[in-house]
Amino acid sequence: MNFSRVKTYSPVSYKLNLRYVEDISQAMPLNQKDVLLDVGCGPGTLALLLSKRVGKVKAVDNSPEMIEEAKEISKAENITYKVGDATKLSTYEEYRNSFDKVVAHCTLHWMKDFKTALEGIYQSLKPGGQCFMNMAHQNPHIINTTQLLNCYTSPKWETFMKGYEHAYYTFEGTDDDYKQMLAGIGFKDIDCKQTAIKIPLKYDEAKEFYPNSMGQLERFPEDCREEYMEEAVKYALDTDYKDNQDHFISCSLIYAIAGK
Ligand SMILES: C[S@@+](CC[C@H](N)C(=O)[O-])C[C@H]1O[C@@H](n2cnc3c(N)ncnc32)[C@H](O)[C@@H]1O
Repeated sequence: MNFSRVKTYSPVSYKLNLRYVEDISQAMPLNQKDVLLDVGCGPGTLALLLSKRVGKVKAVDNSPEMIEEAKEISKAENITYKVGDATKLSTYEEYRNSFDKVVAHCTLHWMKDFKTALEGIYQSLKPGGQCFMNMAHQNPHIINTTQLLNCYTSPKWETFMKGYEHAYYTFEGTDDDYKQMLAGIGFKDIDCKQTAIKIPLKYDEAKEFYPNSMGQLERFPEDCREEYMEEAVKYALDTDYKDNQDHFISCSLIYAIAGK
């Protein structure tokens, strides 16, 4: 997905990242000497929070606009930002065996070839290094709001949606399948778990946040976007929360800690 369209990232992301940074450091103890790679860093909110707990952070994202924004709003002396493709990490010689820790947070499901990204992450880790990762997981019992929003269409919008390949690739297997995939790449000491996420949002927050995950909006003329988006949001909410006035981000995430 091309995230270049997203300019200022939502304050909701910041609020969530405050929570995630605690989850990350509990699951994977961080050290002031660590060199950490943040894969798919977006506007750098997580990189900035993590930079206070490690020695150095290198952060990579394939959207030049995101990196430009990260350099502006999430700068710190010990962070270096780079425009780069996570599925090409293994070709970045300067990354090979270079990181004590890697974080890939809410980013792998935007890559069709997420397995190649995981191979690159493995190669970027120092022996003894650790990676914290999560990605959306296909769970038939849990509605995935982002997936619904990403794929929404109706006859009215077919002209713009025709041929659109949704850009959201959930992992379609069990925890054991995920573990096996990681072990096949070479990772060891793998711990995996699924977590259902349901985060309430105020209406204004939802309106600001949801379009971040709707790459298809780029296909719509400016003057249709609002109408299409409102319809898609209504559809997503009606599917899951018929009796509820509140708005949510809902999905199942598969989390893993893996070592090299
Ligand atoms: C939902 S944001 C997550 C940002 C950040 N990790 C966080 O947790 O706040 C997903 C990010 O992944 C980036 N991304 C998607 N595909 C990528 C790829 N192939 N290589 C690098 N970054 C990618 C997007 O540009 C976007 O900034």
